[in-house]
Amino acid sequence: MELGTATGYSTIYLARGSEAAQGRVLTLEHEDRMAQRARLNFARAGLDRQIDLRVGEAISLMSSLTGPFDLIFMDIDKEGYLEALAHCQRLLKVGGLLITDNVGFRGALDFNQELFSHPHWRSVQLLSFLPQHAPETDGLSLAVRIK
Ligand SMILES: C[S@@+](CC[C@H](N)C(=O)[O-])C[C@H]1O[C@@H](n2cnc3c(N)ncnc32)[C@H](O)[C@@H]1O
Repeated sequence: MELGTATGYSTIYLARGSEAAQGRVLTLEHEDRMAQRARLNFARAGLDRQIDLRVGEAISLMSSLTGPFDLIFMDIDKEGYLEALAHCQRLLKVGGLLITDNVGFRGALDFNQELFSHPHWRSVQLLSFLPQHAPETDGLSLAVRIK
């Protein structure tokens, strides 16, 4: 599952990456115009049947999902990360991977603290490995749900 589709660039990577395992990607986006562009890109990439795009606010859409998901890529507005984390924990299988983008942003501070201190997650932050990204202001975290 992906939170924050935009034009579907990362969704296409996720779909291609899960092709060998006959994986499917559910992606959530609240802007209609973005969703329309993404749908066109999925069709052009020949992936429209592998990707399920739902339009709406990610946290409220997640409330009605049951999962479990193997992987979640979180890339919505950073102010929503902390609230989304509880849903990620509920929806991700034990052993599943949560990848969160832009964790060096100030708005992600409370999320980072919760992720590090919560006993159900084991996580690492990659703040200095991304080319073209300033290490002190951007990066991503990888977290495995261990319980
Ligand atoms: C950084 S972009 C996503 C980029 C995309 N994942 C990629 O790497 O190609 C963030 C997207 O999430 C959407 N978004 C932000 N907050 C959201 C929310 N709470 N619920 C749903 N979509 C949201 C924005 O409209 C925007 O299109």
